[in-house]
Amino acid sequence: MSTLTESTFKRIAELSRRRWGLSLSERKLPLVANRLSAHLRKHGGGEIEDYVQRLERNPTEEDMLVLFDLLSTNVTSFFRDAAHFAFLERELYTPLARSTIAVPGRRLRLWSGACSTGAEPYSMAMQAIELLPSAMGFDVKVLATDLSNSALDACRAATYTDAQLTGLSPERRARFMDKVTPPSGAAASARAEPMWRVKNEVRKLVEIRRQNLVDPYHGLGPFDVVFLRNVMIYFDRETRREVVTRMHAVMRPGGIFAVGSAETLSGLDVPFKNSAASIYLR
Ligand SMILES: C[S@@+](CC[C@H](N)C(=O)[O-])C[C@H]1O[C@@H](n2cnc3c(N)ncnc32)[C@H](O)[C@@H]1O
Repeated sequence: MSTLTESTFKRIAELSRRRWGLSLSERKLPLVANRLSAHLRKHGGGEIEDYVQRLERNPTEEDMLVLFDLLSTNVTSFFRDAAHFAFLERELYTPLARSTIAVPGRRLRLWSGACSTGAEPYSMAMQAIELLPSAMGFDVKVLATDLSNSALDACRAATYTDAQLTGLSPERRARFMDKVTPPSGAAASARAEPMWRVKNEVRKLVEIRRQNLVDPYHGLGPFDVVFLRNVMIYFDRETRREVVTRMHAVMRPGGIFAVGSAETLSGLDVPFKNSAASIYLR
């Protein structure tokens, strides 16, 4: 196995900090070493040091995205952090459906800012379909962004195994997912795990794009709801502050901003008002 020295790890960490705001602590060295070695083995071998030198010299955008994929974590699930969805039901959807609050032009714009493989933005779209009476003619769009190639591909495919549907109730699965029929005659398909694809009714509300959270948010917003969950833990404090400040700028006054249940904005000096655990108002 190709080795990763401490000094080479530090150079990777510096590259990741500059490009993506990732803060890689030395505890991650064994994990990064494993991932880079496996990647190099798969692509004809070579030393980690040579690979890193190539990335430092003149990497293509694609080379860097491959490195990002090797370093990032895409863990997610449908309706993760149920309290956030309960908050949206109580504070946004029920009052909208009762017309006790309104959004201009009945346009509701949501953003899943680190959408990973899609469970988060599709959950957001499913909830809007469930709770907004179709007769009221709301125009709902969920923007789903991430930086990872593999996450964005999976989000576009919108196809999941049973195990990936943890969090989706049988009722929601029946309502919002189609069982994918494996191609007939394929011997392997008899043993393949069942797969489920998000129905077009949900997919058509979700627009998927690449966005590096540390780059400017040109042409985005204004949003009524932003989910930025379980991604800030990978950023250093200054990156968190910058990212959250820019999110604030693309939200409507009163908009709802949710971070991961283990994350907080406290001590960041950003203008959001805390409303409930890990939920803020613009
Ligand atoms: C652990 S997942 C969180 C997924 C989802 N938000 C959730 O809470 O279930 C973190 C995601 O953040 C993305 N990510 C990390 N740094 C990023 C950056 N600088 N720009 C955009 N996405 C980033 C990763 O690719 C990954 O898909």
